[in-house]
Amino acid sequence: MRQEFETIQWSFDESRGVGRIVLDRPDSLNALSGTIRREIIEGFAEFERLDEAADGVAVRAVVVSGAGDAFCAGADVTEFAEGTELTHPELVYEAPSEFAGPVVAEIDGYCLGGGLVFALHCDIRLASERSEFGLPEVDLGIPAIGGGLGALRATVGPGRAKRLAVTGERVDAEQAATDGIVDEVYSRETLSAAVDELVDTIASKPPLAVRSSLDIVDAYRSAPPEQFERRESQRLRESEDYREAVAAFREDREPEFTGQ
Ligand code: COA
Repeated sequence: MRQEFETIQWSFDESRGVGRIVLDRPDSLNALSGTIRREIIEGFAEFERLDEAADGVAVRAVVVSGAGDAFCAGADVTEFAEGTELTHPELVYEAPSEFAGPVVAEIDGYCLGGGLVFALHCDIRLASERSEFGLPEVDLGIPAIGGGLGALRATVGPGRAKRLAVTGERVDAEQAATDGIVDEVYSRETLSAAVDELVDTIASKPPLAVRSSLDIVDAYRSAPPEQFERRESQRLRESEDYREAVAAFREDREPEFTGQ
C-alpha cells in the first residue's frame, strides 16, 4: 500500500505489517521544511488509522530513513525567519515516540540537529559507517528543541550531552555507537538488510507485549521542561547572533558572533 506525498515516501507492507517513511528531500539533505514536517505527522497518522481500521494492531513496526546522502540535516535553515513564534515545530520530532508501535531509524549519512532529535525519538537506531551525528544548532545561535537535549541526556548522560550541545561537534557512527546514540553500525551495503531482519523479528512478536514494553521503557523518561525550552529558543531567535548565523548560511560565508 502506498500514499502519495510531496516530500516523503510512505508505504505499508501488509504481508509483513511493516510501514516505512522515507524523508525525500535529498537536494537539501532531507532538511525539515514546513511541508515535510506536516507530511511526517500525516504519515504517522496514516499508520494510526490503519491500526484503528484493524481495531487493534495492523502496523507491527515502522522504519524511518532518508533518501540520498543523509538521514536528515535538521531543520530547514532557509525557512528560518526572525522573530517568528514557535508554533509546535517540535511536534514532528515527537511523531515517532507518539506512535504506539515500534519505530526503527535506518540512518545512512548526516543525522544532525532536528534530524538527530527526530532519530532520538525513534525506539531503536541502526546506522551505516559513513553516518555523522551532531547538534549544530549552537552555531545558529539557538539551542536544540523538540525534547532533543533531554533525550540525548537520557541516552549519553549529562556531561556528554552538554559537550555535544555546546560544541556542535560531529561524531562518527562508531563514536555514536559507543555513546549509545545508535544501537549498531553496519556497512552501507548491509544496513537495509539488518534493519529488515530486525523489524521482521519485532513484527513476529506479540504486538501488545511489544507496545507495552516500549511504553514502560518510555515511562522512565522524565518529562522535558517544554515551556522552558520553548521560551529559551524563542528568546535566542531574537538575538543578533541568530540573525547573523542564518544570514551567513544563506550567503555561504563565515559568521561573526558578538554575543548580542
Ligand atoms: N537546511 C536547508 N538546507 C540545507 C540544510 C539545512 N539544514 N543542510 C544542508 N542543506 C542544503 C545545502 O544548503 C546544500 O544546498 P545547495 O546544494 O542548494 O547549496 C545541500 O543541502 C547540500 O549541502 P552541502 O552543505 O553542500 O553538503 P556538505 O556535505 O558540504 O555539508 C552539512 C553537509 C550537513 C555539514 C551542511 O550542509 C550543514 O552544515 N548544514 C546545516 C546543518 C544545520 O545547521 N542543521 C541544523 C538546523 S537546526
